[in-house]
Amino acid sequence: MKQAFFTGATGGLGEACVRALAARGWRVFAGGTNPGKLAALATIPNVVPVAVDVTDEASLRAALQTVRAHTDRLDAVVNFAGLTAFGSLIEGDAVAQCEKLLAINVMGTVRVNAVFFDLVEAGRGRIVNCSSSAAWMTAQPFAGAYVLSKRAIEGYTDSLRRELLFVGIPVVKLQPGSFRTGLTGEIDVGFARVLSQTVRYRGVLTRMKPLMDQTLRRSGDPAWLARVVVRALEAKRPRARYRVGSDPLLCLMELLPEAWVDAVYRLLGRGAKG
Ligand SMILES: NC(=O)c1ccc[n+]([C@@H]2O[C@H](COP(=O)([O-])OP(=O)(O)OC[C@H]3O[C@@H](n4cnc5c(N)ncnc54)[C@H](OP(=O)(O)O)[C@@H]3O)[C@@H](O)[C@H]2O)c1
Repeated sequence: MKQAFFTGATGGLGEACVRALAARGWRVFAGGTNPGKLAALATIPNVVPVAVDVTDEASLRAALQTVRAHTDRLDAVVNFAGLTAFGSLIEGDAVAQCEKLLAINVMGTVRVNAVFFDLVEAGRGRIVNCSSSAAWMTAQPFAGAYVLSKRAIEGYTDSLRRELLFVGIPVVKLQPGSFRTGLTGEIDVGFARVLSQTVRYRGVLTRMKPLMDQTLRRSGDPAWLARVVVRALEAKRPRARYRVGSDPLLCLMELLPEAWVDAVYRLLGRGAKG
């Protein structure tokens, strides 16, 4: 029986993957902090819920002990724990927001892989880190904290992949576009908060909102992402990266030179009242 440890298993994307793998006979150690969601995961055959906060070393060590009580080897560690944030990089709680996302999205992933590595090595397994289309696409305004964290994940994952080439452990980078989960809902909540507090951006945010809503309406079904993750975990030789659900309009922006993209945003802000 193949075995994987997941973080973010209580979230929209993680849960879809956990369900897909469990249905294929994998035993999945499903990590998260939300007790109600962990209890719901416990009802799925082949799933072992694991309470874990990725920002807390002691919590991760306890999670390792829980997994070790069942097995001394893993075929995969999959890092989905992550938050998003809609916000300014200069107004409000900009610094605290960046620190929080770096702590969970980046250092959480680094910590999980270090703590669980012995089990992955023993199982000749693989590591999957969740990045985002926000990491490779041109950066959008008011997504700074998230972009910062996911670009850090890209650099970290590339370096880890090349280090682990020397010990034969594949490392995979997952780059999802927009999928319907609690995380996309958070963007709406963040938008409303920034709009109510901003002293500079009210006009431009009001113009951006319909474009943002359009992008979110095109969000994909997490089951689609889960099929890609199953492929990444079951392929004999996984690819270094899996790009899935990239928004076609945002992909078009990638064809423009940086200065043109700036011009598009400048046009959006022209004459907008703060
Ligand atoms: N949805 C998208 O459109 C999209 C696109 C690109 C990339 N991604 C990435 O995919 C991953 C999963 O996102 P999602 O859409 O499934 O979001 P979600 O539904 O909001 O789930 C977020 C997950 O992160 C976990 N988490 C947050 N803080 C944690 C902490 N301190 N310790 C342990 N777990 C923690 C949550 O667990 P608890 O609720 O139990 O705390 C939850 O399982 C994230 O890394 C996200 O950046 C998502």
